Amino acid sequence: MRSEKIIDVRNLTESSVTLQHSSLEEERLQIKQLLHLLAPSDANSSIGRDVIQGLTHIPKTLPPKYFYDDRGSQLFEKICELPEYYPTRTEAWILRQYAGEIAQSTRACELVELGSGSSTKTRLLLDAYHALGYPLRYIPIDVSAGILESSAKQLLREYPSLEVQGLVSTYELALQHLTPTQLPSRMIFFLGSTLGNLNFQECDVFFSQITAALEGGEYFLLGVDLQKPKQVLEAAYNDSQGVTAEFNLNMLEHLNWRFQGKFDTQLFEHCAFYNDQVNQIEMHLRCLKSHSVRLEALDITVDFEVGETIMTEISRKFDLDVIQQELQAKGLKPRQVWTDPKQWFGLILCQHC
Ligand code: AVJ
Repeated sequence: MRSEKIIDVRNLTESSVTLQHSSLEEERLQIKQLLHLLAPSDANSSIGRDVIQGLTHIPKTLPPKYFYDDRGSQLFEKICELPEYYPTRTEAWILRQYAGEIAQSTRACELVELGSGSSTKTRLLLDAYHALGYPLRYIPIDVSAGILESSAKQLLREYPSLEVQGLVSTYELALQHLTPTQLPSRMIFFLGSTLGNLNFQECDVFFSQITAALEGGEYFLLGVDLQKPKQVLEAAYNDSQGVTAEFNLNMLEHLNWRFQGKFDTQLFEHCAFYNDQVNQIEMHLRCLKSHSVRLEALDITVDFEVGETIMTEISRKFDLDVIQQELQAKGLKPRQVWTDPKQWFGLILCQHC
C-alpha cells in the first residue's frame, strides 16, 4: 500500500517554514512540487511568459492564478467569509445537504481536488466518503504551496486513515501528471466556480483535460456560480471592507516577489463590474498615474497610462442548462444537479463515458 517514496515537504513554502509532524502522519503524506517544471529560467516555460504576453497585450491582462501566493490565498479565505460574498456559503450549504448522496452514487476511492485552497468545503465531502467505511486517498492540487501544506497536515490529523498526495501545481500540469489510479475509482472535483475564470475556449480545453485524466465510468464534480441580479453580483466583488480590493492589488505584490518587479500598489485601484452582455464579472486594476514598471526577472519594462486598466480576472456566471450541454458534448455526462433554494449556485455531477 505505502510503497511510494516520501517526498521531503520542507522548502516548499514561500516563507520556508520548517514543519514538524509525527511519523505516522508523515507516512500518509506526500507533497510534490510541479511548479519547478515551469521555472522562469526555462525557455519553454509558460510561467512568466504569460505575464509578458498579458502585459504587452492591448488591453493589458494578467492570469488570475497570480492572485494565489500565500498571502493571496489567505485573502481569498477572508473573501469567503464576507457577508457580500455568497458563493462559498451557498455551495457549502448544497454540499452539506447532498454530500452523502454524492458519496453514495460515486463510491470513489480517490478524490482529486483542483484548487483545493484551505480544503474547508472538502471536509463535507471527506466526511461523507469516510462514512462509507473504505480507505480514501485525497489529492489536493494548488499553486500555493503554503496553504496546500498546512491544510494537508491539518486533514491528516482530522482523518486518521486518510492518505494525502498533494501537488503544488497549475491545473493543467497536474492533470497531465495524474496517472490512472490503482484504486477502484477516481472523482475529480472543481468547486467554488473557479471554472468561471476560464473563457469559453479555455473551458473547452479544460474539459478535454478532465476527460483525459478520467477512465470510463469515473466522475467529475463541478461547482458553478449561476446568473442572478446584477446588484448581488457587483456587491460580492466590491465588498464594503475592501478585502477584494486588497486581494486584487496583491497580485502586483506577488509579481514583485516572483519576478523581481517594481509595482507600486499605491498607483493602482481595484475595479469590478458585471458585464451582462457576456454574463461575467470583470475585475481590473486601474492605473492612477502614468508611469513605467520594471520586472527584472522577465527583463521587461511596461508603460502605464493614467486610467489604463489591467484585467486580472473574469468570473463567468453560468446557466445550468447551457453548461450541462457543454459538459455532455465533451464526454462528461451530467448525472445529477443540485442547487440551493434561490438557485444561486449549482453543483453538477458528471460521469465520463
Ligand atoms: C475563486 C475564481 C471563484 O471568481 O468569485 C473572488 C475569485 N475574485 N473575489 C470568483 C474571486 C474576487 C473567485 N473564484
